[in-house]
Amino acid sequence: MPSTVRLVLCGSVDDGKSTLIGRILYDSRQVFADEMRRVAEDSSRHGTQGDAADLALLMDGLEDERQQGITIDVAYRSFETARRRFVVADAPGHEQYTRNMATGASTADVAVVMADARKGVLPQTARHTRIAAMFGVRQIVLAVNKMDLVGWSPEVFQAISSAYGTVADETGIENVTAIPVSALTGDNLTRRSDKTPWYDGPTVLGHLDTVEVGERDAEEEAFRMPVQYVNRPNPDFRGYCGRVAAGTVSPGDRVRVEPTGVETQVASIVVWRGTRQRAGRGDSVTLTLERDVDVSRGDVIVDAEDPLEVADQFQARIVWMADEPLTVGRSYLMKLHSCEVRATATRIRHSVDVRDGRRLAAATLGLNELGVVNLATSRPVPFAPFDRCRALGGFILIDRATNATVGAGTFTYPLMRASNLKWQEFDVTGEVRAGLKHQRPRCLWLTGLSASGKSTVANLLEKRLVSEGRHTYLLDGDNVRHGLNRDLGFTEADRVENIRRVAEVSRLMVDAGLIVIVSFISPFRSERDFARGLFEPGDFREIFVDAPLEVCAARDPKGLYAKARRGEIRNFTGVDSPYERPERPDLRLDTGKLSPEECVELVVRSLG
Ligand code: ADX
Repeated sequence: MPSTVRLVLCGSVDDGKSTLIGRILYDSRQVFADEMRRVAEDSSRHGTQGDAADLALLMDGLEDERQQGITIDVAYRSFETARRRFVVADAPGHEQYTRNMATGASTADVAVVMADARKGVLPQTARHTRIAAMFGVRQIVLAVNKMDLVGWSPEVFQAISSAYGTVADETGIENVTAIPVSALTGDNLTRRSDKTPWYDGPTVLGHLDTVEVGERDAEEEAFRMPVQYVNRPNPDFRGYCGRVAAGTVSPGDRVRVEPTGVETQVASIVVWRGTRQRAGRGDSVTLTLERDVDVSRGDVIVDAEDPLEVADQFQARIVWMADEPLTVGRSYLMKLHSCEVRATATRIRHSVDVRDGRRLAAATLGLNELGVVNLATSRPVPFAPFDRCRALGGFILIDRATNATVGAGTFTYPLMRASNLKWQEFDVTGEVRAGLKHQRPRCLWLTGLSASGKSTVANLLEKRLVSEGRHTYLLDGDNVRHGLNRDLGFTEADRVENIRRVAEVSRLMVDAGLIVIVSFISPFRSERDFARGLFEPGDFREIFVDAPLEVCAARDPKGLYAKARRGEIRNFTGVDSPYERPERPDLRLDTGKLSPEECVELVVRSLG
């Protein structure tokens, strides 16, 4: 069985990726067929005729596999030489190229970077090289393509290889092999070209066939297995299923469950129809443990002698893949190994100039940009720096509203602050404070356009609750913006931060035992979802104060719509800044039809 090498193809649009891979697939089959013929001849000479028939079957099998391909985000194709089997992550289109490239790079051993001899090293070439480096690729083949169109000039080849060398050095990739090729004619791809007497290096396929591809993350030797799911077919059996990410495990080994830190011993390793005495990296197994401990999906079972880091604040490298920029304070869904958490960028440390690696000051990260950010997760998660363990060190970020993957990244290290900050447990709890006030504390979140009636309803609602002996507080956008949020304006980023702060404040107030009424436009779904996520289910009520834009603009009590229409105020909600209507509010108040009193009645009734 030949060893498997994973490739990712990088480069700019129209630089010949498809031609190159098509050529290799076609020619390698020839190489493969030639090789097979040789082996077949050998075996018939030695009287082992059966081999020839087996080999023919094998070749048919490969052909099938090639045609089927696997399509997820990326199309994977494979080809084989006598020594190795190659799996190629090939990006189907141009649009999502960066995303597919990152996906491919995260598992690749070797990146084949294409450059067009007429164009040299483009920003896109440099960007892909950086992404490949970020996701752990350590071997690069620079295929300087379309050499036939520059008259096979050694000077052009030299100039491009040396320009590329500078980029690669800067990313820390040491192993670059530059090869002058023509994907169209096949020169120096699978056979040596007679057009390049000045070049004495290998062909692309020859190089791929022999290049060193050690374990990409051989660094991590201690046992680590993220739990994919808990298998409990009957009360007597509880197994934890997952794929060993690093190290090995045997029955009797002392293990620790992260993030809880509980320790016990492995009782058995269960596999399909039996048990095993040992499992290693890449094996999918079910572990049973000596003690009945609490383990759930997303936990990681590790060597007790060498525990994992657990943190909720990290520094990470990120490549951003969405049109909407990465915004500080906005909450995303983070998927890392088998675990999902909410994650927020707390600070963008810098973005990276893809051409020369310079650090640039940045307030956001836009489409295809790379940067280093601080992230905070909603709860502590077990992880490893990507350089130590690929399986536990990479993550993706998902937009909670659209479910699209918007970013991918790698952990560099936990921030000291996180490990030094602990939750203090106090004796007077939220329940105690609420009990004293004889009420169920809650957050009643009013969202809606300016002049939709939020403040009017909020005011009446608070009067009503107080008259019933409730303890309340009203947080109103205009008022909070005079103090706590005086530093914020109305750009998208500022509104995100505005809502994050008020959500955190209302959480503290609910913990203090109050019924908090929040009256902010809060135009974005993701921030309202973030606010909801801070509370126990049922303690947060999203109340949509709904009136048609025309009605609000006609009411215009502060004259702001008129100003916005005249262009005197920018980013005015409903005019030149969006309002994302709640999709499933807990309550909707139609203030165009209902009186403020009727609205309050509905709210109070909904509280039960
Ligand atoms: S939010 O969008 O960030 O939630 P918030 O509720 O705090 O807004 O503040 C809205 C109030 O600020 C409005 O009621 C209005 O009086 C005032 N305001 C000033 N400029 C704007 C603007 N560009 N867009 C919306 N409201 C504005």
